Amino acid sequence: MNTIQLTINGKPCLATVEEDTTLMQVLRDQFRLTGVKEGCTIGLCGSCTVLLDNKVTRSCMLEATRAAGKSVLTVEGLGTPENLHPIQQAFIDCGAVQCGFCIPGLIMAAKYIIDKNPTPSREEIRRGISTNHCRCTGYVQIVDAIELAAQRMRGELRLTTL
Ligand code: FES
Ligand code: FES
Repeated sequence: MNTIQLTINGKPCLATVEEDTTLMQVLRDQFRLTGVKEGCTIGLCGSCTVLLDNKVTRSCMLEATRAAGKSVLTVEGLGTPENLHPIQQAFIDCGAVQCGFCIPGLIMAAKYIIDKNPTPSREEIRRGISTNHCRCTGYVQIVDAIELAAQRMRGELRLTTL
């Protein structure tokens, strides 16, 4: 058993980990950040996606010890119910959420896409989310939402919904 130090959603934290504890387990079990969804647990579905030092990361595939000293952002660190992040608001406005299971991971992937490139094309958005699987939607509204969020984050305000 080891103690590691990391920053989670802007707060310094200590976590107790075994050698094989994953970052997903730390986030869900020790910090109750259940927006980090436990899906396939083998790196295929994207539902556990977080940003680790601003890079998109499958938290189910990362030993927690490798996150020591790093900064983790989960969907809980993005916005609040009273003050949603523009990406969260755009997902609602575009009707991009059905069961919702895949959505936190997609929102984190969307943040990574827009942080890297504030003007992503629809094709770049599709490529950026290609390993985040959604069983409910046809992805069209998800791409719409990321496109809308990028526009709003560039200050091109669109008040009407799609
Ligand atoms: Fe991590 Fe599926 S739960 S990729
Ligand atoms: Fe249900 Fe994506 S909204 S899996």
